[in-house]
Amino acid sequence: MRRSKITIIGAGNVGATTAHWCASAELGDIVLLDIPQTETMPAGKALDLAEAGPIVGFDSAIVGTTDYSDTANSDVVVITAGLPRKPGMSRDDLLKTNASIVTAVSEQVQKHSPNAFVIVVSNPLDAMVQQAQKVTGFPYHRVMGQAGVLDTARYRTFIAMELGVSVEDVQAMLMGGHGDTMVPLRSCTSVGGIPIDQFLTSEKLEAIIERTRKGGGEIVGLLKTGSAFYAPAAATAQMVEAIVKDKKRLLPIAAYCETEYQVGGYYVGVPAILGAGGVEKIVELSLSETEQEDFKNSVDAVKSLVTTMAELLS
Ligand code: NAI
Ligand code: 2OP
Repeated sequence: MRRSKITIIGAGNVGATTAHWCASAELGDIVLLDIPQTETMPAGKALDLAEAGPIVGFDSAIVGTTDYSDTANSDVVVITAGLPRKPGMSRDDLLKTNASIVTAVSEQVQKHSPNAFVIVVSNPLDAMVQQAQKVTGFPYHRVMGQAGVLDTARYRTFIAMELGVSVEDVQAMLMGGHGDTMVPLRSCTSVGGIPIDQFLTSEKLEAIIERTRKGGGEIVGLLKTGSAFYAPAAATAQMVEAIVKDKKRLLPIAAYCETEYQVGGYYVGVPAILGAGGVEKIVELSLSETEQEDFKNSVDAVKSLVTTMAELLS
């Protein structure tokens, strides 16, 4: 059986770590690509990672390159190319630079891997995924963004830390954009199947939700020279796995919503089933009144980001 071919564009922190998680889970053969100015850096990271194979026990072929012809006919392309946030910088500050980078990358993806599924990670996420779909012209179910898996993981981690329980027993769902307006859903948060309000007061949970919304900034503040990459990369690899293994995972994904949740033609975080067909189904939940209102605010923030991007690029 042919192995899946997974290309990761951007061999920086998130890209190289995504390659690491994908290789260690033997999700397929991996191509790690960066710009020509990085010279042999992608090849160095790829060889180093390949040399972990005998120790960890994986057989993935891993190539590092600056040449798009090596990415030809990939099954999945992950886009992490772009600048990360620096202390004091918002995700939106990255908008213009990263929009130009994602545009250039998407043109190459369209040319070299016309049948690929595309997972965008570059920030500001909700605008970048919209741009990648527009430039590739790929059907909506084949282009998606990674944000909600990371944000939900942060939310689950904070709840587990507060309660002193295993993260594996904390289940949650989160919607909206990848920014301070994201909407962790109280109604979908549980521990071992027991609703969260049996464990935490509303005030404690609100503090955790607030920490989750600012979770990216918290890591930026600690690292000082860049943004989070272990958890973002693990989240991205989970999405790759769902596609290449046709897992039908129900995950929070930045997916294109037209009539769904009355979004009206934007990419935004929603619960969706991810499998060999890409985004196979967007799951429409009945939200509480507050959740509906918060989701609408978040969608409005995404819309204004996309409008600003269009103005900056025109
Ligand atoms: P990084 O600076 O470590 O790596 C970025 C890489 O992209 C660099 O190696 C750079 O040379 C490369 N690059 C730049 N222009 C390129 C182009 N045109 N073609 C190919 N490669 C190009 O940054 P890091 O930490 O890996 O973050 C990457 C992006 O992911 C940032 O925009 C960051 O904000 C975003 N991010 C998104 C998350 C999410 O949940 N959606 C979470 C974490 C980061
Ligand atoms: C994060 O949430 C920077 O978006 C990135 O860590």
